[in-house]
Amino acid sequence: MHLIRRNRILRQSPAIRAMVAETILKPSDFIAPLFIIEGQGVKEEISSMKGYYRMTVDLTLVEVKSLWSLGVRSVLLFIKCKDELKDNNGTEALNPDGLMQRATRAIKAACPEMVVMTDVALDPFSTYGHDGIVADGEIVNDPTVAVLAKMSVSHAAAGADIIAPSDMMDGRIGAIREALEQEGYNKTGIMAYSAKYASCFYGPFRDALDSAPGFGDKKTYQMDYANRIEAVKETLMDVEEGADIVMVKPAMAYLDIIREIKDRVDVPVSAYHVSGEYAMIKAAAQMGWLDENKAIIESLTGIKRAGASLIATYFAKDAARLING
Ligand code: PBG
Repeated sequence: MHLIRRNRILRQSPAIRAMVAETILKPSDFIAPLFIIEGQGVKEEISSMKGYYRMTVDLTLVEVKSLWSLGVRSVLLFIKCKDELKDNNGTEALNPDGLMQRATRAIKAACPEMVVMTDVALDPFSTYGHDGIVADGEIVNDPTVAVLAKMSVSHAAAGADIIAPSDMMDGRIGAIREALEQEGYNKTGIMAYSAKYASCFYGPFRDALDSAPGFGDKKTYQMDYANRIEAVKETLMDVEEGADIVMVKPAMAYLDIIREIKDRVDVPVSAYHVSGEYAMIKAAAQMGWLDENKAIIESLTGIKRAGASLIATYFAKDAARLING
């Protein structure tokens, strides 16, 4: 054969492949989600997320420093609220001395440069396990947004760098931005969960926080996974309302959405490689059916290649270690 173009030339050695690789993961691409519990010196493995833990604030600080030393530059905080503090209105979410606020202050004091993102939604605080206030069996939008705005201000006051609303209420990005401006927090960013789908892949996360919905599902606020155009609409609205970063969630079954949004917005796009996606890789690896490290790097590279410049992932630490070699 006399071929003019032989594509295998650029694949023939590790050196050539490294030269022409289009997508390179780096530790600062990752946002490490952390599950925080009350107490001291406690680390509990989450049964459906092998190798991932809920930790008390003191141990969380050790984890944050270790992530920082590996090159990870951002953590996303979730707290497990005590049952007796849960109600329908997310009262505890506004407590200036609540677990989220204390954890945020402690992390900013221990590792000031780490970018601290805080989850904003009512589900960990809700007796119903829903992201908003429940009235007559419905999740009511506007009263919920009012609480989310206050919650965001309270996180900003505790030192959060970026507020991450994961609730999917209408108009919350604009309301949060307005509230932050009004209270003088004009350096606090917003990472909007813009295209967040009603997904079965959140199952293990709800085990981690004991936050599964007590009735019904989340389909009246989270998006239908059949939809693509709606994701673009949601995301463009969040950008208009003041989102600094937008997010697609979950990641692996939504790579088309990540790309579509990447092509449509001029803000950084993030993706959330969610708990169920973590659990699938872990479970298959435990059975000896997948090479875990390879599955991690291939999955995260695919998500970045699709257009996510930031990836929230429970593999943040493992991936950073693998990349650093
Ligand atoms: C709730 C929230 C969820 C996740 C992040 N924030 C679960 C849900 O919407 O029910 C899921 C994250 C994951 O599965 O890793 N506001």
